[in-house]
Amino acid sequence: MSEVITIANQKGGVGKTTTAVNLAASLAVAEKKVLLIDIDPQANATTGIGFSRKDYEFNIYHVLTGSKKLSDIVLKTQIPTLFLAPSNIGLVGIEREFDDRSKDFKLVLKNKLEEIRHEYDYIIIDSPPALGSLTINALSASDSVIIPVQCEFYALEGLAMMLNTIKLVKSETNPKLNIRGFLPTMFSSQNNLAKDTVSNLKQHFKQKLFMCKDTVDELVVIPRNVKLAESPSFGKPVILYDIKSPGSVAYQHLAYAIME
Ligand SMILES: Nc1ncnc2c1ncn2[C@@H]1O[C@H](COP(=O)(O)OP(=O)(O)O)[C@@H](O)[C@H]1O
Ligand SMILES: [Mg+2]
Repeated sequence: MSEVITIANQKGGVGKTTTAVNLAASLAVAEKKVLLIDIDPQANATTGIGFSRKDYEFNIYHVLTGSKKLSDIVLKTQIPTLFLAPSNIGLVGIEREFDDRSKDFKLVLKNKLEEIRHEYDYIIIDSPPALGSLTINALSASDSVIIPVQCEFYALEGLAMMLNTIKLVKSETNPKLNIRGFLPTMFSSQNNLAKDTVSNLKQHFKQKLFMCKDTVDELVVIPRNVKLAESPSFGKPVILYDIKSPGSVAYQHLAYAIME
């Protein structure tokens, strides 16, 4: 059985795309068959694993508007078991088209996924920094959601809104949606605010944090690591750029926690 996981947080710059790309790649390197779906008009996941506009004709826009099937747009990547459904800036318009429409419009992606989800072990969806209809589509199509939380002062402030959206999706379109976990990102040990964020998360969501494999109480925390920031400019997930870097190791721990 495949698992569909959306990476979501309405704040921008918290590590959603970095998490989507590197979790997908780490699962794929562990020999799982993985489809990464980029549903953000900014298409950072698409470029981050090495595709530019001229490399593909069709993208998730054509799937959501009904002219293509997901299988028509899927691209092969540098990792044999990792596949990508690319995005494109053209998606911006869809958000307006879809907003205020009927419930059916929240289920477009879910319906499109039905045709192919059995072909993959994991489907990871990278969502835009907003709680509009694209993110609602992603959450409605998912078994679970991972919420990256940047280790900074205001980190927990936006979470109430995120949790409300999840509640809404559960009541309207997807009662089985499960919070897989909160993922502290961009942690740096010299920063006391970062430590506070992690202890706040422990206090409020202890059961919803990821544990490192074969440890008793070591949490999966993504460090602030320059290799994670550099690798997209080489069109590579960090596991292909510097497999032993702390950022890469942390995302491998996340992948193991997901596979448990
Ligand atoms: N753990 C990290 N260490 C260093 N830089 C990071 C880390 N996570 C993300 N970044 C960088 O921070 C920026 C925002 O991250 P991104 O994943 O694009 O966030 P989002 O998708 O939530 O907007 C990007 O430039 C990315 O390379
Ligand atoms: Mg992003």
